[in-house]
Amino acid sequence: MSRRKKIYEGKAKVLYEGPEPGTLIQYFKDDATAFNAEKHAVIEGKGVLNNRISEFIMTNLNAIGVPTHFIRRVNMREQLIHELEIIPLEVVVRNVAAGSISKRLGIPEGDQLPRSIVEFYFKNDALGDPLVSEEHITAFNWASTQELDDIMALALRVNDYLCGMFGGVGIRLIDFKLEFGRMYEGEMVRTVLADEVSPDSCRLWDAQTNKKLDKDRFRQDLGGLSEAYAEVATRLGIFRDPNSALAEGS
Ligand code: TMP
Repeated sequence: MSRRKKIYEGKAKVLYEGPEPGTLIQYFKDDATAFNAEKHAVIEGKGVLNNRISEFIMTNLNAIGVPTHFIRRVNMREQLIHELEIIPLEVVVRNVAAGSISKRLGIPEGDQLPRSIVEFYFKNDALGDPLVSEEHITAFNWASTQELDDIMALALRVNDYLCGMFGGVGIRLIDFKLEFGRMYEGEMVRTVLADEVSPDSCRLWDAQTNKKLDKDRFRQDLGGLSEAYAEVATRLGIFRDPNSALAEGS
């Protein structure tokens, strides 16, 4: 049993004190939740696959100059990250209608949106993460105007990069959710990408068949979640084949 200090436990991850000041260990659990944790299951191997996929994506984003909290993966389920002050927003970028935008605005799932749309949700489980506008965000000081500009620019850059990355392996990026934080470096503060980027936080459809390769398999009881995540990891070249990806997770 590890005796290190737990800093925070979320629905799919745990944060522990890191080896040096200003660092944390991010642990990926196998738990899957949906609808604000009304629905819960443990899906063997999910944490291992998300750790690897998020490592791959964060590393590539770092390489193109998107600042992220990711430092390095330390084992199958854990990564070393920079400690941030989390901005209490869920930033969703949408390319194709699905999920809550389809429900809220009556746009059929699968319709291409006229352009990429960025939405902000206030990160508050008790309130069910309500949709908010830039007015709310700046009025209530959840983020400054400058930070919102940075977040918007970074979110769109991440979207361009991910659309290309997934498009290259026959996957359509329908939408995804990002979180950001503040990294203090002496007098300076930087807006940095936090959390994870994985099939838990993206909608990913096979480009040929529209098969769902993301957490909607759990939300909609479609089954085969680990297999779908293993498929994503394999197409990205993280594993040789889906069987070795699944073996790694079990
Ligand atoms: P939504 O259509 O339910 O608003 O979800 C938009 C995207 O955000 C989708 O890719 C799933 C992701 N998401 C999360 O990562 N966490 C959440 O709590 C929610 C509601 C959505």
